[in-house]
Amino acid sequence: MKKIEVNFIINKKPVTVEAYPNERLLDVLRDTLKLTGTKEGCAVGECGACTVILDGKAVTSCLVPIGSVEGREVITIEGVGADGKLDPIQEAILENHALQCGFCTPGFVMSAKALLDENPDATKEEIRRAISGNLCRCTGYEQLTVAIYEAAQQLKEAHREQI
Ligand code: FES
Ligand code: FES
Repeated sequence: MKKIEVNFIINKKPVTVEAYPNERLLDVLRDTLKLTGTKEGCAVGECGACTVILDGKAVTSCLVPIGSVEGREVITIEGVGADGKLDPIQEAILENHALQCGFCTPGFVMSAKALLDENPDATKEEIRRAISGNLCRCTGYEQLTVAIYEAAQQLKEAHREQI
């Protein structure tokens, strides 16, 4: 198999990489682009540690061949937050002590962000559903659910103030 050029948008910047078409997006992110915030856990789509946002949807990057990313937009944990500040979801996770080792955290943040970008009025049940593909072996899920719900309330408040 020959390498191909793949052009896509990563964290709002255009990029071109050379890769085998079936190379995993996860490997291109971590090894080629050095975006190591995206983690590898199970490598079979079961743990959510490798979650990124692809065209607005949360996906497990260990299951995405780079050849399918041509012309698309990817956001990783490095593209979350702005002006050197954490995203409200990250802030809420810290405030609610919703992490311990932190290995799973980028994946949870990306799943939560994809949900709240699409549905800022998400209920706790919808949040639980959105993070149901993310596994955490340390902290449990209640604090994460509370944190993401709090972040949603803050985002809505900030949006109201802008109107
Ligand atoms: S490493 Fe991709 S889902 Fe576990
Ligand atoms: S905080 Fe350690 S796996 Fe979630």
